[in-house]
Amino acid sequence: MQYNFIMQILDGKLISQTVKDGIKSELENYLSNGLRRPHLVAILVGEDGASRTYVDSKERNSLALGFDSTVLRLPASTSEDELIAIVEKYNNDDSVDGMLVQSPLPKHINENLITQTIIPHKDVDGFHDINMGKLAKGDEGFVSATPLGVMMLLEAYKIPTQGKHCVVVGRSNIVGRPMSLLMSSNRAYGNATVTVCHSKTENLEFYTKQADILIAALGKPGFVKADMVKPGAVVIDVGITRIEDANRKSGFYLRGDVDFEHVQHIADYITPVPGGVGLMTIAALLSNTFKAYKNHLGL
Ligand code: GUN
Repeated sequence: MQYNFIMQILDGKLISQTVKDGIKSELENYLSNGLRRPHLVAILVGEDGASRTYVDSKERNSLALGFDSTVLRLPASTSEDELIAIVEKYNNDDSVDGMLVQSPLPKHINENLITQTIIPHKDVDGFHDINMGKLAKGDEGFVSATPLGVMMLLEAYKIPTQGKHCVVVGRSNIVGRPMSLLMSSNRAYGNATVTVCHSKTENLEFYTKQADILIAALGKPGFVKADMVKPGAVVIDVGITRIEDANRKSGFYLRGDVDFEHVQHIADYITPVPGGVGLMTIAALLSNTFKAYKNHLGL
């Protein structure tokens, strides 16, 4: 095995804090001029433990920045019609800048229908077809928070993407697909040559080994092994899986899609789990909400 002693951790805690500090100081300026606060509405349906944690964190971080936060915690028995009516109410509420419905939703609710009900200029998750379409075309809109957070992290560390070979493992609408679009887009940060791999890809490691930037977003803990990574690569781990552990107070620990222990010796840059992409997702969501607020008030 080739050992690498210049490996650098991409510190999501540090960079997300920098992003949040930037928003906070810009907002303080607006507030001191008498403007109202940005307002984010988050809707959670059901009891999924991870989703509850994410929504709690979104609420905590919104309040810490000086945003108004409304969180609806609805029972799993909420009907599709009830949820649509709630989303429409916030669509029409002028005091609300951004809205998200935490996924996954209970099986009896059509998630895509809910996503398409959120009015695109309040869709701070960037899941609406209009925002996905804008991203595909390279137009300005809302971009899904996790891929946007990854771009913020790469940019903060001045890691070049132009002309590099980026391999994205995963093609979900929330991460893999928008990630590959961002990386290939003709923007200041992008312009990579992108390969998208997925569950049907044959000989996956043939592709992952060619990646200058490898983005793992497949949701399989520890899947990316050291022999699948090119020496000197930038490795971005999007996976956050809860692994049961009775010895911990929480009853679980978090594991990424990358076998960090071994891959860290091969990669030049790598994101840890926790402390990497997850924190950037929150920062990117707050950034999208702030953008929605500024658009809304014409700032
Ligand atoms: N579930 C997993 N990731 C996300 C996200 O970014 N937004 C929402 N609304 N739900 C999610």
